[in-house]
Amino acid sequence: MKSNHQYFEANKNLWNQRALVHKDSEFYNLAGFKAGESALTPIELGELGDVNGKTILHLQCHFGMDSLDWTRRGAKVTGVDISDTAIDEARKLKAELGMNAEFVCCNVLDTSAHVKDLFDIVFTSYGTIGWLPDLKPWAKMIAQRLKPGGIFYIAEFHPMVWMFDDDFTQIAYSYENREVIVTENQGTYTDREADIKGKEYSWNHSISEVLNALIGAGLKLTLFNEHMYSPYPCFRNVVEFEPGKWYIKGLEGKIPIVYSLKAIK
Ligand SMILES: C[S@@+](CC[C@H](N)C(=O)[O-])C[C@H]1O[C@@H](n2cnc3c(N)ncnc32)[C@H](O)[C@@H]1O
Repeated sequence: MKSNHQYFEANKNLWNQRALVHKDSEFYNLAGFKAGESALTPIELGELGDVNGKTILHLQCHFGMDSLDWTRRGAKVTGVDISDTAIDEARKLKAELGMNAEFVCCNVLDTSAHVKDLFDIVFTSYGTIGWLPDLKPWAKMIAQRLKPGGIFYIAEFHPMVWMFDDDFTQIAYSYENREVIVTENQGTYTDREADIKGKEYSWNHSISEVLNALIGAGLKLTLFNEHMYSPYPCFRNVVEFEPGKWYIKGLEGKIPIVYSLKAIK
């Protein structure tokens, strides 16, 4: 068994490789974003509302496209990510677009050691908390970084999705956080054939674990939704049933794919 530090380092290594593949992928459509298209989905745009003039701390910001989308909408954004390659790419993108944003490279759990400001909004989305072994320190850090009255918002893949094997043919993992899940990674969700190999380490977090971590950190839940589709075609065997909405073949209308929540400090 490895230490959490070793798990984070192994995952960071894979994310460094993925960042380079992702920025040039059709999936992320960076060219479209540069030309003015939205990188954010109607879920977070509808639920978070107007961010003009707000300060946003974006956790696990990847190569900064979503962060800079919030910037474009008038927010003052700080993005945090463990991947130095992703943060380098985020800074390059910011410079290319002539935008203002801060990008900080650190483990999300160490954010308060690197970022001292307090924010109106802490935001994180799609493929984030599964890389964290324990949500209590994560929620504590979120509460630390929010102004009184500030909002935490997450849109995340539903824990039910992570119970399945990669092909969604059988239930392979527990709904709740029992232990680290070790998988042999091949490629990435934007390119299954990409030369990115290695063990990755993740954790499943039940809805009650997420809610109790946030409640335990002193936040009050103000919105909770479950969505029966993914706004991204990031899983195997997906079908686009409406523009921008994908379901997993065979599971359509049966399980939620995404949940979103807002909590106030
Ligand atoms: C799927 S992306 C999520 C962002 C967004 N949905 C996107 O696609 O641009 C996951 C991000 O989490 C970051 N990450 C993974 N573990 C982390 C950790 N412990 N601390 C900070 N960032 C982490 C990765 O480097 C990656 O950029």
